[in-house]
Amino acid sequence: MEKKKSTHILVFPFPIQGHINPMLQFSKRLASKNLKVTFITSSSSSVTENSSTCIDTETIYDGFNKGEKSTDPAEFIARYESSVPKSLAELIEKYSSSEYPVKCIVYDSILPWVLDVARKFGAFGASFFTQNVAVCALYYLAFDGSLKVPVEKDKMSFLLPSLPELEFNDLPPFVNGPGAYRAIYDMVFSQFSNIDDVDWLFWNTFYELEDEIVNWMARKWPTKPIGPTIPSMFLDKQLEDDKDYGLSLFKPNSDACMNWLNAKEPNSVVYISFGSLAALNEDQMTELACGLKSSKKGFLWVVRESEDKKLPDNFIEETKDMGLVVKWSPQLDVLAHKSVGCFITHCGWNSTLEALSLGVPMVAMPQWTDQPTNAKFIADVWKVGVRVKVDDEKGIVVKEEIERCIGEVMEGETGNRIRKNSEKWKKLACEAVDEGGSSDKNIEEFVSKLVCNSN
Ligand code: UDX
Repeated sequence: MEKKKSTHILVFPFPIQGHINPMLQFSKRLASKNLKVTFITSSSSSVTENSSTCIDTETIYDGFNKGEKSTDPAEFIARYESSVPKSLAELIEKYSSSEYPVKCIVYDSILPWVLDVARKFGAFGASFFTQNVAVCALYYLAFDGSLKVPVEKDKMSFLLPSLPELEFNDLPPFVNGPGAYRAIYDMVFSQFSNIDDVDWLFWNTFYELEDEIVNWMARKWPTKPIGPTIPSMFLDKQLEDDKDYGLSLFKPNSDACMNWLNAKEPNSVVYISFGSLAALNEDQMTELACGLKSSKKGFLWVVRESEDKKLPDNFIEETKDMGLVVKWSPQLDVLAHKSVGCFITHCGWNSTLEALSLGVPMVAMPQWTDQPTNAKFIADVWKVGVRVKVDDEKGIVVKEEIERCIGEVMEGETGNRIRKNSEKWKKLACEAVDEGGSSDKNIEEFVSKLVCNSN
């Protein structure tokens, strides 16, 4: 026991919510296996307090002071990448002369240069992919030139190893080039720059969910699914000191959400959230608002502060008897609540995995990056939801389609089928992280190799 605790690992995510959450929950899992874990946050982010006593946190300088913002992702990434290698090295150096030298850094896969910093100090490096294996495989196939998107792309379908037949609209847009997001695109493809040299590769997914593509990927690299990284209290078995999600960049309106949900009938509420980054245009917000109104269902809608001006005039007032709009929710508590019967989601990978692991049927309304591929899997592979169709003329999802999809997921034969599948996946997700489950075994293997000082 004592020996294990002295094995110290750092966990280092890129500072956005969708990357902090899974890596933080993974940290708690590792700590529950008796490792000393230090979770690193970045100076620019204002995170809520760390309520967990099983992991430590450290903040390093990332080129920005607290509260200082850059609205330009390219500028943020450039400053971040020119400051962090030095700050990270200083932190590891500090521990080198302590009783807790760093044995391994688990780092965000989009920051591959962290491996060089680890190596300088003789530490192991483990790359953590916050997206699923299927999406990563698509990026890899684009990276190595096997997946080329032809000009006649709209008419094409893509037959790729161990993946379902995909249409152009199911692919992550970055496989077709950087578009307006060169800096983010470069980060995404940098994941493969030194992948052959990394000591461990972890994915926030579970084997049973993506078995074929995991097997395919594992022929190239040791592919270790360790998810779903959901706090244990939501997965039937609570680990010690795992009582909330922790470290949020946003403050949830928890009491308002939970009190409101408590007063609703089981499976009657539509929950809507587009994660921490996606921004809908004003017309799309209006169609969504109208679709919710005409569905006649109760709804809980997360509209972030940066988005709320896009709501139609008087919408909140007009719908106050049927819905609640909040700036941020305690999403896991919401999804686990018995009143929630449907989740309209942008299909960010965390939201997708959370809903799937908690058995909540989805209406998939993908926006960008990995989301179209996640939507394809939600609707056609795991069959735990339906995907909205974009109106050809307007280029957005119209209110009738929103209403139709809500009805399909919450009522009738399709709804029953989806609910049954959702229950099946919920069970499999719990089993994967339970003792002896596929993800738990991968975590155990990592811990024991690390403790024995070999890999
Ligand atoms: C981003 C990308 O969009 C996503 O596709 C990628 O896989 C990860 O990074 P984001 O868009 O924020 O993440 O979506 P998502 O991955 O779903 O993560 C959002 C997280 O915030 C989830 O863990 C969710 O539970 C949490 N959340 C969201 C809240 O706690 N409250 C909210 O109101 C909304």
